[in-house]
Amino acid sequence: MASIKRIGVITSGGDCGGLNAVIKGVARYAYSLGIESVVIPNGYAGLYNLVELDKVVLLNAERVSKIEASLAGSEAGHSRVKLSKIKDPNTYGRIKEGLKKFGIDALIISGGDDTGSVVVDLSSHGIPCIHVPKTMDLDLQPYSVGGDSAVNRISVFTRDLKTTGLSHNRILVIEVFGRYVGHTAFRGGVGAEADCILIPEIPADFDVVYDHMKTTYFGRVMRSDVKAGTYIIVVAEGLKNASGEMLYDESAGVDAFGHKKLAGAGKYIRQQLEKRLKSDPEVMDFMKKTGMYAPGVYEIPEVREVTPGHLVRCGGSSAYDVNFGYKAGAVAVLLLLEGKTGNTIVNVDGNKIHYMSTSEAIKRREVDIKEVALFESLGICFGRNPQKFEHEFSEVKDGIVRHL
Ligand code: F6P
Repeated sequence: MASIKRIGVITSGGDCGGLNAVIKGVARYAYSLGIESVVIPNGYAGLYNLVELDKVVLLNAERVSKIEASLAGSEAGHSRVKLSKIKDPNTYGRIKEGLKKFGIDALIISGGDDTGSVVVDLSSHGIPCIHVPKTMDLDLQPYSVGGDSAVNRISVFTRDLKTTGLSHNRILVIEVFGRYVGHTAFRGGVGAEADCILIPEIPADFDVVYDHMKTTYFGRVMRSDVKAGTYIIVVAEGLKNASGEMLYDESAGVDAFGHKKLAGAGKYIRQQLEKRLKSDPEVMDFMKKTGMYAPGVYEIPEVREVTPGHLVRCGGSSAYDVNFGYKAGAVAVLLLLEGKTGNTIVNVDGNKIHYMSTSEAIKRREVDIKEVALFESLGICFGRNPQKFEHEFSEVKDGIVRHL
């Protein structure tokens, strides 16, 4: 067992639900073993500048009790800084000096794929560290804290937006974060009973989307006694068109990690639908039959994009994320003591602590589109012609894959 007296806690990348539970899990479990833990503020930028600090915040019982696990975001703060990109030949030497200055023997770092790549990097430079998976994108191999909270938030505001959609007979396109994968758009969209969910794993065919929208939305308004209806599309920001090209707006620039900021998929979909509505001869008839038609003013149904942005990951943490965060943070201390640096916590199932190498854990996990076909059979459009759900059976005998 490694001799560790003091652990530094870092959170890095985008904020999200469950992170404060990770911090509390680390601090309380370490304390129960007689080990101190301290906050290294503001992610890797803070780690790089640790040596300049006068003091670090000790996560003693009093300080920890002031952290609210059910609040999203992180008491430790964040930045999107990749250490290997810092223009300083002595980056790692400087970090080691900072750690030495405050007697920090090892690190527990919570973050996504970018953060994990730095965990691998720090480990290879002889700094003991364990990775607790965190990202609302859910694109890591194991579950990551923040995912469930984001899915719930997407589901709630998408459902809420239906009242506006219904009042104005609007077609709403809700663009959500998720980077290059569609996990949160998919699960949040299903949770809100969205009509159409567009994810990067399935290049979108806008003729298919238009036809689905027309059948569903036109039918709804026509059948309604008060001639009211809406159509809800949830789109992941990393959406691709039928040729596999991403639909984001180039002018959005890049973040500090060097990733393109994704924005514009919602706007693109709106334009595609408006173009088809304007050139479809049946639309005027629909507008007239439903009493919506006003010449020169209101000739096609309105399509609006809504971009909730950071609202998908702020505010509160789901109970699931508080549970996962607590236990993942706590057992990260045990993995550190076991000397298993450069590893990621996967889960705690009973008394079994599952972990995997961080370099494996950060390999991008996409939506398994085999499962999408099941939801297509239930009537949800995924921007392609619905496919048959090719299922197979598998009997569970000796154990169940548990999540909580
Ligand atoms: O990786 C998490 C995430 O929320 C992505 O889904 C999104 O593209 C990005 O962060 C936004 O990051 P920022 O807060 O730096 O704008």
